[in-house]
Amino acid sequence: MKTLIAPSILSADFSRLGEEIRMINESEAALIHVDVMDGRFVPNISLGIPVVKAIKKHATKPLDVHLMIVEPEKYFSMFADAGADYISFHIEASVHAHRHIQQLKDMKIKAGIAVNPQTPVSFLADILEDVDLVCLMGVNPGFGGQSFIPQTLEKIKQLKKLIAEKKANTLIEIDGGVTLDNAAEMIGVGADILVAGNTVFNSPNPIGIISRLCHV
Ligand code: DX5
Ligand code: ZN
Repeated sequence: MKTLIAPSILSADFSRLGEEIRMINESEAALIHVDVMDGRFVPNISLGIPVVKAIKKHATKPLDVHLMIVEPEKYFSMFADAGADYISFHIEASVHAHRHIQQLKDMKIKAGIAVNPQTPVSFLADILEDVDLVCLMGVNPGFGGQSFIPQTLEKIKQLKKLIAEKKANTLIEIDGGVTLDNAAEMIGVGADILVAGNTVFNSPNPIGIISRLCHV
């Protein structure tokens, strides 16, 4: 079966953003992953609302916006208006995650929760049924090109079990450290979507790499 791949635009060449988006459009990718960082929740600053709008203008695939920001709920409607199809916020940045999920649903946005390496997936148990996607971090958020934290594999298994117990339809997305060497193992234990930045954009043949990731 074909794996859902979400190339992460963070590793793209921003001086050729239009071309990079067209490459993703032509590829077998399912989504375009867009990393938003505020320099507070994570020790890096990336891109914001005007860039999401610009990406949307060229993209033919849904935008999967990953908010690595404090007080994410303040910006939901702005990112929705900019063209986000999925919005994930961090459970560690949200005191009222259930309310925030409902706010996204009310805006007809697919609601995602991102989870840092130190946060147990059991924290999501009581809200899982309402969550469209869990973005499980395979690295500490903030930068592309880091190595996958192997304990994440156990978390994928635990989350898969929890989703089955709750009879939820939640998708498991793995973000960070995905390579051609470790992708199959993640899929094998239950991942549905793989985000890939460095692996795709630092290759001379990104379309070919996306295709290989889709068929690991
Ligand atoms: C990390 C970001 C990731 C990142 C993944 O903070 O959330 O989406 O772009 O990059 P790679 O695939 O290079 O680890
Ligand atoms: Zn991300």
